[in-house]
Amino acid sequence: MKILVTGASGLVGHKVVEIALKKGHEVYSLYREHAVNMGVPLMLDIADEEKLLKTVSRIKPDAIIHTAAYTDVDGCEANRGIAWRVNADATKKIALASAENSSHMIFISTDYVFDGEKGLYLEDDKPNPINYYGFTKLKGEEFVKEYAAEWCIARTSVIYGWSLTGKLNFATWLINNLRQGREIKAITDQYVSPTLNTNLAQMLLEIVERNITGVLHTAGATRVSRYEYALKLAEAFSLDRELVKPATMSDIPWKAKRPRDSSLNVSKALNMLNAKPLSLDQALQEMGKEKH
Ligand SMILES: NC(=O)c1ccc[n+]([C@@H]2O[C@H](COP(=O)([O-])OP(=O)(O)OC[C@H]3O[C@@H](n4cnc5c(N)ncnc54)[C@H](OP(=O)(O)O)[C@@H]3O)[C@@H](O)[C@H]2O)c1
Repeated sequence: MKILVTGASGLVGHKVVEIALKKGHEVYSLYREHAVNMGVPLMLDIADEEKLLKTVSRIKPDAIIHTAAYTDVDGCEANRGIAWRVNADATKKIALASAENSSHMIFISTDYVFDGEKGLYLEDDKPNPINYYGFTKLKGEEFVKEYAAEWCIARTSVIYGWSLTGKLNFATWLINNLRQGREIKAITDQYVSPTLNTNLAQMLLEIVERNITGVLHTAGATRVSRYEYALKLAEAFSLDRELVKPATMSDIPWKAKRPRDSSLNVSKALNMLNAKPLSLDQALQEMGKEKH
């Protein structure tokens, strides 16, 4: 299949490209700042409507896996214009372009569309974002539903894994610090569903290959506090657990509010997909085996 991947330099995007190429797909790897040398690399700012539309209609992909986003949650709070243009408006343009070119659109959304008061959210639970990042991603979801013809909204949570660019995520940040014998703080009162980038990429490619539509929670299968997650990471990489110190949400000077429990219920994906959401233990084992 011909697949266009936005955010091909990102934590998830580069894994999608890597795995799609291994499976024999024709892949167009769209990035903005960090060059990618896999598939057919294309440098493009998705906020540039004209170039975006021209690129999609030139390629006419069978599927667009739209992973690109302004993912800095505090940054979105401070730079609302950029957050809106990248996460909401560009997603609308991609949805329109996908409909025009008969491409299946897969939009990667987030657990942060929920307010975190319930936890283990189901696909049809009512979103109620409490920060601007979550608000712009929810608007992106609404545009996809309105403008794309064939679509899947794949929501995920706290992505981790080895990156292409060296940009840190919670897991790699923790591993770096603990390897250098530095203490880190991890929060005991925030619950999430940590998701290994490789596991997510496999689920996304199955969605493309089987033409799956609708909303699907594609996250890790284990709900944990950030603190428990940090301890598991330390254990999996044979690092000193004593360096992980408990903290609470109120100790962290975030600009944007965070949901208390935005964990996702992944039963639908577990039933539907062959590439199952992995438990945290399984995923950490996988990460340990991956080269970096
Ligand atoms: N990370 C998480 O914990 C998390 C949790 C839930 C949902 N999500 C969602 O999952 C998706 C993937 O996240 P991620 O962590 O893989 O992201 P990431 O590593 O932060 O990468 C973001 C990607 O978006 C690209 N990008 C940003 N602005 C762009 C623009 N204006 N034009 C073109 N490309 C642009 C970046 O390209 P350059 O680097 O080349 O500029 C990069 O490839 C996002 O949609 C995010 O909202 C993430």
